[in-house]
Amino acid sequence: MASRWGEQLTISLFGESHGPAVGVVLDGVPPGEELDLEAMEAFIKRRAPGHTPWSTTRKERDTFSILSGFYQGKTTGTPLTIVIENKDARSLDYAKTSYLPRPSHADYTGTVRFKGASDPRGGGHFSGRLTASLCVAGAICKQILERRGIEIYARIAELGGISDLGLDPANPDLSSLKSLADKKLSVVDDEKGKEMVDLIEKVRTQGDSLGGIVQCFALGLPAGLGDPMFGGVESRLASLFYGIPAVKGVSFGDGFDVSRRRGSENNDPFYVDRQGQVRTLTNHEGGINGGITNGMPLVVQVGIKPTPSIGLPQKTVNLQTLSDEFLTIQGRHDPSIVPRAVVVVEAAAAIAILDLVLVAFGLQGLGGMKHGT
Ligand SMILES: Cc1cc2nc3c(=O)[nH]c(=O)nc-3n(C[C@H](O)[C@H](O)[C@H](O)COP(=O)(O)O)c2cc1C
Repeated sequence: MASRWGEQLTISLFGESHGPAVGVVLDGVPPGEELDLEAMEAFIKRRAPGHTPWSTTRKERDTFSILSGFYQGKTTGTPLTIVIENKDARSLDYAKTSYLPRPSHADYTGTVRFKGASDPRGGGHFSGRLTASLCVAGAICKQILERRGIEIYARIAELGGISDLGLDPANPDLSSLKSLADKKLSVVDDEKGKEMVDLIEKVRTQGDSLGGIVQCFALGLPAGLGDPMFGGVESRLASLFYGIPAVKGVSFGDGFDVSRRRGSENNDPFYVDRQGQVRTLTNHEGGINGGITNGMPLVVQVGIKPTPSIGLPQKTVNLQTLSDEFLTIQGRHDPSIVPRAVVVVEAAAAIAILDLVLVAFGLQGLGGMKHGT
């Protein structure tokens, strides 16, 4: 089950960072959906490293091949298999990680869990490289959702302690959200973006790394998606977000801030808008009540840790001799994962939301539902 996710729409990720390829099998994609391959390429390019000064110099071109489930420009409804070749692997950089585990990476836990048999090169199956497959799957789901009026946008809300401009969760500025995909750094306030870039550059030269928070908005969701208790929208989305390497926190709406408020401050009062739609004045709940969407924008924050592979010397253990050692990591690593994680979060949200839609009413039912924003 571990690398497979979903109910009505399932994704199954495969591959290792330095193997021949990574990829994904999507099962349950509705038949007859046109796929804009150029838009898919453009989407996954936002994740690829090597084209910005603040990402690793690894060149991951991320061109994909569709092996099944796609005929004459449309999905067939049978399993859609997509592979992305690995072309810029330098395995020598990682020769030591099998016995000198990188602190806070998965080298140690992966070795224990798979009894030393896992591929250690470039983090193997635990590598951020696997998120290229997640992005291809997300690009497909995003296109299917957009045709039905559901749009998903993500941005860097915070990086290295520097915050982007706040957006109203009840009514986020659409033009700001739409502009994010065309920017090198997905922030609303470009001045703040410049501060973030300067800080990344400074920390990179110090051999260190930075974390941050990605915020994601889903607009146009109908009220009534999701189930109570364990099948709630929060549970399903969070389970997919936590599958993204380096994600250490997920919060919906105002997150932990709600626990410091009174009910009178936190409740989102209902009203009927000019179109006769039930809406809320504020959106502290992030568009979800009782695990079910209420038609307001879905708002979620995803906390990303600093890249574990840093240039500074760190304490570790030698698993061959069981003695303490110092490790200095060579290799090519992102000084911050956050800029590249934005599109991964967007992709994961699209996959989870399409699955929720298909479980709730199938694609046809979407048109008949009341839309939020
Ligand atoms: C897009 C992306 C790129 C990543 N790049 C790196 C990297 O260059 N170096 C690194 O040590 N970790 C990188 N990671 C994070 C590790 O894969 C992750 O920290 C590791 O698998 C341990 O998992 P955990 O952080 O979820 O506990 C990346 C993650 C993502 C999502």
